[in-house]
Amino acid sequence: MGIYFDEAAQVFVLRTANTEYQMRVNGFGMLEHLYYGARLDSVLQPVRFFGRDIRMHKDPLDRGNEKNFALDAYPQEYAGSGVGDYRVSGVETVAPDGSLSVDLVYQGYQILDGRQALPGLPFVRPDSETKTLEITMQDPVIGLCVKLSYILFAQEDVIVRNAQLVNQGQGKLILKKAASLCLDFFGSHFDLIHFHGRHCAERNMERLPLGHQLYTVASERGMSSHHHNPFVMLCDHSADEYQGRCYGAALVYSGGHRIQVEVDQCNNTRIVMGLASKGFSWELAPGASFQTPDAVLSFSGKGLNGLSQNFHQLIRGHIIPPQFRDVRRPILINNWEATYFDFNTEKILQIAQEASDLGIEMLVLDDGWFGKRNDDRAGLGDWFVNEEKLPGGLRVLSEEIHKKGLKFGLWLEPEMVNGVSELYEAHPDWALQDPGRETTLSRAQMVLDLSRQEVQDYLFGCFQKILEDAQIDYVKWDFNRSLANVYSAKLPEERQGEAAHRFMLGTYALLERLTTAYPDLLIEGCASGGGRYDMGMLYYCPQIWLSDNTDAILRIGIQRGSSYCYPVSTMGAHVSASPNHQSGRSTPIETRGIVAMSGTFGFELDPGKLSEREKNEIRQQIRDFRKYYWLIQKGTYFRLGEAWHEGYFSAWMFVSEDRSEALLNMVVERMQGNAIVPAVRLQGLDPGASYRVEVPIRRGGWYGNPDNPGTVEIQTESYSGAQLMEYGFVFPAVQGDYPAYQLHFVKEPDGGI
Ligand code: GLA
Repeated sequence: MGIYFDEAAQVFVLRTANTEYQMRVNGFGMLEHLYYGARLDSVLQPVRFFGRDIRMHKDPLDRGNEKNFALDAYPQEYAGSGVGDYRVSGVETVAPDGSLSVDLVYQGYQILDGRQALPGLPFVRPDSETKTLEITMQDPVIGLCVKLSYILFAQEDVIVRNAQLVNQGQGKLILKKAASLCLDFFGSHFDLIHFHGRHCAERNMERLPLGHQLYTVASERGMSSHHHNPFVMLCDHSADEYQGRCYGAALVYSGGHRIQVEVDQCNNTRIVMGLASKGFSWELAPGASFQTPDAVLSFSGKGLNGLSQNFHQLIRGHIIPPQFRDVRRPILINNWEATYFDFNTEKILQIAQEASDLGIEMLVLDDGWFGKRNDDRAGLGDWFVNEEKLPGGLRVLSEEIHKKGLKFGLWLEPEMVNGVSELYEAHPDWALQDPGRETTLSRAQMVLDLSRQEVQDYLFGCFQKILEDAQIDYVKWDFNRSLANVYSAKLPEERQGEAAHRFMLGTYALLERLTTAYPDLLIEGCASGGGRYDMGMLYYCPQIWLSDNTDAILRIGIQRGSSYCYPVSTMGAHVSASPNHQSGRSTPIETRGIVAMSGTFGFELDPGKLSEREKNEIRQQIRDFRKYYWLIQKGTYFRLGEAWHEGYFSAWMFVSEDRSEALLNMVVERMQGNAIVPAVRLQGLDPGASYRVEVPIRRGGWYGNPDNPGTVEIQTESYSGAQLMEYGFVFPAVQGDYPAYQLHFVKEPDGGI
């Protein structure tokens, strides 16, 4: 494992536990991509494939007497533009003389221990094993220098890439595109998998066999978005959850993004990933530099589950704030779906009391506690308490809640302002808005221009006051609209193409300031649910509210879609009331609990409206969640693929690192007539060991029916790991609405059979 340069072959090799990446400095001084995939353990031997003369290419004689060279088919590490490679480019510029071409040649390299932090941006955090290969490329004609970083996370099978672009010329360079990642693959035998969605329906998986065209997965909304997550996979057509070659790429960025995948005339594939493009431009004065966000790459030969597990390990170990890695996070209750805007101190304390009696550990006061916020048309920006609702303010409320043995959390939506607010009256120019044009409202709100220092200072000042005054353990950081009219009053007209990225940098600066000043404050990200569910936000917020859709059955798909990249320990998930407020569906409390437990686990309902039976069930869920906490949060997560493809039920499981225990979860999503007994093959167990499991067998009655529950008898069963994985586990017969099982498999003490 490590990074090597083979002088004789002029080949760079990056080797992780199971993967390898190679590139070569060719005879023309270009950086040629050679290989990415499973370990080869030797330098790739020269291949014939690229020795073809393809029309419409740069004159090869300029590069030596190599008649068969064709830039347009050549695999490159970071493609320039305008000089004969007609595929999607990694970088585009306008030079001082107006010329548009970029042609990069190799200059040199360094291998460094650790990695450079990215100024102003979240990044993948290094550890003592981390190594960086830094390669310098240059276009001497326009004076552009590009430093490509390849950062190795060998145990996780991850290579992180980013680029720094420096103007070494005499005049002003305008960047039109600066990708974090440009990567050429040999062949086009891939399916592209990406995750699209909308509010309350995030991260639906779509899988397309690549054809000869340019695919774009992008968000131009100034946020990573509900609509297209900044994560894609390329895998063998035959790959499934358990086997096949799979690549994944994700951007550590929360603003707009663009991922392009192109299959070229020679049936090869290029992927380019970076910031959103619409209107983007960035002025680079002589000596100035531009840093792209990190892009995270991983490969697994063990199917989609294998690839997801690499990303999960990386996010848990290198993205989320380290102080939250090994600390159990509180089981919370949020008042949003219990009260919406209609609450006062008495109501909140009543919820807190009931919650404390159930064993819940934190109360989160959601939207509506500040300014004149009695509905969603006023108040954003006025971050001072509404004493009409909460006399004595947050200090008194937080003290009362702490007295009940609960922590206290608070909702904020920092980047927003309502037209009806004191803040907007005082500083109308602080909102992003076009001169002379009516500003596009969404949920009656505008977006503050976070690129401005005075806006950041105002917000930090408000939050500091709140955090110093009251005992606040948690903040929910919301963001409830996409950007529009992205015009910053502080930027000159020719630099408005910088406004969207500068907005994002301003948000990160505020988050950085807050998390530095209050490192133990737990921040849960949110953007109308999962509209900013990305590694950029996860760098500051160890958990993110996954979706405003709290219907347990619909959540299964949202949690599954999100799990392709993100670990369950980052997924804000709550048990809410039945019938559900988004779908109107009724689902048993047991099922709602099992689904929410595959996340951070919490509640979002009025506990005063629960029956005694439901309360007892919740007490049991809290006991179970505490017992299985580390198995769920740190165990190896498997989607049990055969199950959900059939649409009948979904199953997923967690296996502890030493394979001594596993937690199997199953929910019937669509009941069948004369239902086939559900069965599923388990994963990740020790085949030679025997596992004991207690299975609830229901006699009479209906699952989840309070009037006729029947009786439940616990039957202890024992199976070999081999049988569970090769033959499968057969659940008891199911009936009723959305029955679910959560079964704990424990390795027998003798370990064998
Ligand atoms: C967004 C969030 C919700 C809730 C409301 C409050 O929609 O996703 O959870 O906080 O805002 O207005």
